[in-house]
Amino acid sequence: MQEKYHIVTYGCQMNVHESEKIAGILRRVGYEQASTIEEADIIVFNTCCIRENAENHAFGNIGALKKMKKQNPRLIIAVGGCMTQEKGKTEILKNKFPFIDIMFGALNFEDLETLIARKKQEKKRVIEILEEARGIVEDVEPYRTSYPNAWVNITYGCNNFCSYCIVPYVRGRERSRKPEYILSEVRSLVEQGYKEITLLGQNVNSYGADGSTGMTFAELLDAVASIEGKFRVRFMTSHPKDFNEDVVKVMEKHRKICRLVHLPVQSGSNEILREMNRRYTREKYLGEIKMLRSRLPEAEATTDIIVGFPGETEEDYLQTEALVKEVDFASAFTFVYSPRQGTRAAKMENQIPESVQKDRIMRLVELVNSLTRKKSETYLGKTVEILCEDYDEKKGLYLGRDEFGRMGYFKSETDKIGEFVHLKITKANGISLYGEIVE
Ligand code: SAH
Ligand code: SF4
Ligand code: F3S
Repeated sequence: MQEKYHIVTYGCQMNVHESEKIAGILRRVGYEQASTIEEADIIVFNTCCIRENAENHAFGNIGALKKMKKQNPRLIIAVGGCMTQEKGKTEILKNKFPFIDIMFGALNFEDLETLIARKKQEKKRVIEILEEARGIVEDVEPYRTSYPNAWVNITYGCNNFCSYCIVPYVRGRERSRKPEYILSEVRSLVEQGYKEITLLGQNVNSYGADGSTGMTFAELLDAVASIEGKFRVRFMTSHPKDFNEDVVKVMEKHRKICRLVHLPVQSGSNEILREMNRRYTREKYLGEIKMLRSRLPEAEATTDIIVGFPGETEEDYLQTEALVKEVDFASAFTFVYSPRQGTRAAKMENQIPESVQKDRIMRLVELVNSLTRKKSETYLGKTVEILCEDYDEKKGLYLGRDEFGRMGYFKSETDKIGEFVHLKITKANGISLYGEIVE
């Protein structure tokens, strides 16, 4: 009987895509996907360490497997991703969970095939974590499970060292993929019928900044959007210190590129932005939004915000609120600052009490939700193009997103997954829209 795998993923889109690559490796080894975790012969945890709660989730879920491992001693448990890459965490995991069989890092998931073979031979625990990133490995074929959407890496790692962030420590320095690999991957995805391509990087705007690709991000985006066929192009994440008009000009040129930019602002206070080492000001940020909307009046922005960063005063926080109102984001991910060991911010003296952080996050979430709700209401009566991506069994409705990432639900007698449909919006419920297909 064929052996089966189950992958548990935490963290960002990049990690979700990495899990697709891990699935590709496991299938190459001969495993097939298990329908439940209980059925699996190998369970792989692809972890995240961006905030403490991401780590706590992983600790909890790995711990819960102790019993399963006892019941089935043949079960292989592998732990990889950003957490195992973090200084000191491998030791903690090793000691806390002696039943883990394989440990690998975010920088060498490609080794999983060899590590499994070694584990099967040696019977003892196999651990391999790299200190530094090697060159980009191009020969891992992802096993994609997100049709009609597909993610494509354009850069790995990060050079920015925002003072709160652990990513540069666990993902290494920024490396850009060669344009020919990216373009041939996108071409092949479009040929296979994928309808939405998202280019991924921690800071897509610095693509090729080391001179290794002969192309800027704007040029790459232009080349991707020039590929024939009906599909959408998205990209994330844009960094306000490097986002520029050249990118917006390319957006103007191609209707395929969604009029949505994910541009994390983090804070509305110049003082805090400086302490965060973000290397832009509130004014520069607002200028970019203005530039975007002057070229593309329909364009929307989404963002990430951190509250409770060390030294954040009520005044600083209110500046964030004011910025959120001024930009009128389509949506925003909001986070409470979480100190990460080894980062500059974790050593700052003026850490903010949890009660203050909680109060600010609640106020901010309320504000963001009210803006999103208001945006939803403006959709009423309008017709929007939705890319259908799934069927919701409970609701008995198909669902998909418009170019701004807004979820729309609708009824259909025929399978619409992978198709663009036009929906006349009849109901807006919080962040979700409901509508009827119009031809
Ligand atoms: N490269 C992207 C973001 C990657 S991490 C960028 O520069 O925007 C995704 C988000 O997690 C960040 O935008 C930030 O808002 C949040 N984040 C990162 N480190 C954090 C920390 N220590 N505490 C709380 N939120 C954090
Ligand atoms: Fe982290 Fe800053 Fe790099 Fe984003 S740009 S991954 S927030 S260091
Ligand atoms: Fe992503 Fe988490 Fe790593 S956000 S890059 S999986 S630390």
